[in-house]
Amino acid sequence: MFKKTLISAIALAGAAAGSSQAQAADLTISCGAVGAELTLCKQGVEAWEEKTGHEVDIVSTPNSSTERLSLYQQILSAQSSDIDVMQIDVVWPGLLANHLLDLGETLGEDAAEGHFETIVANNTIDGRLVAMPWFTDAGVLYYRKDLLEKHGVEAPETWEELTEIATEIQAAEREAGNDRMWGYVFQGRAYEGLTCNALEWIASYGGGTIVDAEGEITIDNERAAEALDLAASWIGNISPKGALNYTEEEARGIFQSGNAVFMRNWPYAWSLAQSEDSNVRDKVGVVKLPSAEGKESAATLGGWNLAVSRYTENPELAADLVAFLTGEAEQKRRAIEGAYNPTLASLYEDEEVLAAVPFFGTLYDTFTNAVARPSAPTGDNYGRVSNSFFNAVHQVLSGDQSGAEAVSQVDSELSRIKRRRW
Ligand code: GLC
Repeated sequence: MFKKTLISAIALAGAAAGSSQAQAADLTISCGAVGAELTLCKQGVEAWEEKTGHEVDIVSTPNSSTERLSLYQQILSAQSSDIDVMQIDVVWPGLLANHLLDLGETLGEDAAEGHFETIVANNTIDGRLVAMPWFTDAGVLYYRKDLLEKHGVEAPETWEELTEIATEIQAAEREAGNDRMWGYVFQGRAYEGLTCNALEWIASYGGGTIVDAEGEITIDNERAAEALDLAASWIGNISPKGALNYTEEEARGIFQSGNAVFMRNWPYAWSLAQSEDSNVRDKVGVVKLPSAEGKESAATLGGWNLAVSRYTENPELAADLVAFLTGEAEQKRRAIEGAYNPTLASLYEDEEVLAAVPFFGTLYDTFTNAVARPSAPTGDNYGRVSNSFFNAVHQVLSGDQSGAEAVSQVDSELSRIKRRRW
């Protein structure tokens, strides 16, 4: 009964592709489907199938991390064995650890050797390695090189500069006939992606990280409120009202069709912006995100890992698939073909990788110093913490409350959550 509900809730990608093997598979893996993700996952899985002679079904999951999490929570709390290998967000290990196997046990203590230590530490809960790092992420600023050059300006270093340049170029381009041009697109829907964007605004204003590393709630401060008010001023001016409902792919759609000067997105958007059918091919630059005057830029740390469900009937086989997909050859292929950031430091010195994605070299520090969302200090409350934050920020963007009201509201909601247990 549950199986049926689950299978209808997610797309059986193997079956959709006409695979006649769907019934006979040895394993099932869930993959994301943002941009080229699903294609890259299928190719990697096929390579493992060829190598081992086993068969794997692939299920694709919703693009929104928030929706994916609730789907996984349903599957795991039902102790379903339907999905053996799961692609999990960097902010979930603390939330899902009890349902995941210790890969250190199956793959050996040095399974994660060579991977960025911060990610390995993030994925290690109570001494158990609950997921292997697959790719890392950090927010970056995409800009139209051609338009900035035409208007004689450099890429912005502060949010105020971004606002000015976006306003000016948007007006000039509209005047010149493109009335669909916008200055700045980003992820403004009430979901995990907005938590990532708003953390970048606030941290780069010197307003902290919502909750600090020790678990203290720090969100209720003037700098944070100011950052949110600035973002609200973009809506309807340099950012379309529709941005209140954008995830990564909607923002990329606008930018890639040539209708935005700036975009905040993750590195994956690079290889698609550079693809043959892109309207902005060879017209795009990538730099670190702006900050407030005199402050440091902040990129939210994102990324995805591969975990094995505790309810799998094939733990050894599932772990072998994880080791293969997170291994160096696959990470290199995904970096070159899809601009997915490797979690292996050595690949940032690989010439083929750097030729395909030059900013993996120029923005290396951005990737290694990205700002973590407070998932570690808030543990299995992180989902609630993020929901409270993105809903309040969304109200500011919608013009329903001020930055100051929002940060005070989040402060009281988080205090209530913390009182119960953090
Ligand atoms: C990206 C990041 C992930 C984040 C999500 C939010 O997929 O890798 O960590 O939660 O975006 O939309």
